[in-house]
Order: sequence, then structure tokens, then C-alpha cells
Amino acid sequence: MIKAGVIGWPIGHTLSPRLHGYWLDQFNIEGSYLALPVQPDYLQNALQEFKLAGYKGLNVTVPHKETVLDFLDDITAAARTLGAVNTIVIENGLFKGSNTDGFGFIENLKSGQPAFSVSGKSAVVLGAGGAARAVVAALIDQGAGEILLLNRTVERAEQLALDLGGPVRVLDWNQRADCLARAALLVNTTTLGMTARPALDLALDDLPADTLVTDIVYTPLRTTLLNAAAARGNPVVDGIGMLLHQARPGFAAWFGVEPRVDQGLRDHVLAGLK
Ligand code: ATR
Repeated sequence: MIKAGVIGWPIGHTLSPRLHGYWLDQFNIEGSYLALPVQPDYLQNALQEFKLAGYKGLNVTVPHKETVLDFLDDITAAARTLGAVNTIVIENGLFKGSNTDGFGFIENLKSGQPAFSVSGKSAVVLGAGGAARAVVAALIDQGAGEILLLNRTVERAEQLALDLGGPVRVLDWNQRADCLARAALLVNTTTLGMTARPALDLALDDLPADTLVTDIVYTPLRTTLLNAAAARGNPVVDGIGMLLHQARPGFAAWFGVEPRVDQGLRDHVLAGLK
């Protein structure tokens, strides 16, 4: 029995067991993937316990993504740059951490809009939290020509730009509607537009007709931003795919099979939101 799971606190809402459970069933793997509640103070002990219990690996979610770095033996350069780990492989008694959020973001765009490439082009990113870090790092990696970064708290955007380098230009949050004219890609990484949160107030008048618009919010799946963009004919990619694709490298490492993101998986995971 191969064991894996996701650690977080609280952990009740996580879709990851549903996601990995679908693949375990699909490939008939004798394995388990559990939601594992771990209190912040207990993180180091919990990691040792999972190792002793024979776990092959873990996903890491809030609030452990940053603090867990202190307890790992090996961290990929990309995860170290981000300062956050979401995937751990336990191998030969060692904890190896990586971050697959950027991979998930890019793979989601590629599967939703296969012809799209950000290489040499301009991207507008709204937000400067943990998700924005992964998105900006991935866009730099993909060769984006320019990344315009806007956040309500401008200092946070400036810190992100400092940490990640690359062609990032920080603009004032008030410029969010005016900076869209050159964008080939528009990404919302803020929590605005999430169910029970304020809406994202953004006029799309200056957005070119072929600009790809994506939102990492997936509750609701069709955010006001995506609806507004689709209504004016822009291509859109919703946010659930980032969650699905970021799970692939972990599953492959723990269970030894390269999983696919298909419509069946998407429907199964989305049913867990209801
Ligand atoms: P995550 O790590 O998931 O990205 P986060 O760190 O809480 O989450 O970041 C949430 C993002 O949404 C931030 O960019 C935040 O802006 P601040 O850095 O100024 O807090 C943004 N956000 C949340 N509520 C907002 C609001 N009412 N107006 C504008 N931005 C908001």
C-alpha cells in the first residue's frame, strides 16, 4: 500500500484527496491519499511521523507552504526562489521539496489554449500573494517579455519583483484598467471575485480582443472577470485546471504513473465543490 496525503490546517475543504483518489481508481493502484490535519506547532514532528509510517510523499497547503522549508533535506532551486513548497517526496529517508504551482498554471493555459505562448509578450498580473509568486516565476520561465504587476499593497508587489527578478514592472493598483492595452495575457491571482468576497472591479475596455484571460479563483468557476472577458469575445481559461495540473508531478513521483488531466477528472473534482 503506497501512502501519500496533503498536510494543512485546517484541511477540511481540500479537493486533493478527491483528485488523487480519481487517479488511484483509474489506474487501479493500491494506494491511499488522505487529508492530514497538522497543527502549525506540530509540523516538524508530524513530518517525522509520516516518514516512520512509510509515506512516499505529501502535498503541502496553507499554512505550511513556507514554514516547511526549514524541515526539508533538499529543495529545488525554483521552490527556494519562491520560498514555498507544495510537494514533498520522501526518498531514502530524506524529504525532497518542490513547487509545482507554476507548472500547474502553465499546463492549464497550454491545455485550455494550445496555440497561446507568452514568450516575448506582455502579461498583466493582478495580486502579489503566494499564488502570484508562482505565476510570475512561471511567466519569467516561459520567456514573457514584460510582466506588469499590480497589487493593492504596492510594497508587496515591489518585494515580489525584487525576489524574482525578470522583466517585472510594478504599477499602481489604480492603473489596472489603463495598463491592459499591450497585454497578451491577463491573470487574476487576487481573492477578488471568490464566492463571498468583493468582486474584482476592472474595466476591460482597453483589453485587446485576442488577449487570453485567466483567473486562479475557481469558486465560482466562471468568475465575473472570466464572464466579462468571454462576453467581449476574449479567450478565457478557468482556474480549476491549475489545481488539477499541479497535482501531476507528485502523483507520478509517489505512485509511479504519469496521470492525465481529462474531462472525467475535472467533472469529478468539480462535483466536490458542490
Ligand atoms: P495567496 O497566497 O493565495 O495568493 P494572499 O497572500 O492572501 O493569498 O493574497 C491575496 C491577494 O489578493 C493579495 O494580492 C491581496 O492584496 P494585498 O497584498 O494588498 O492584501 C489581494 N486582495 C485581497 N483582497 C483584496 C481587495 N479587497 N482589494 C484588492 N486586492 C485584494
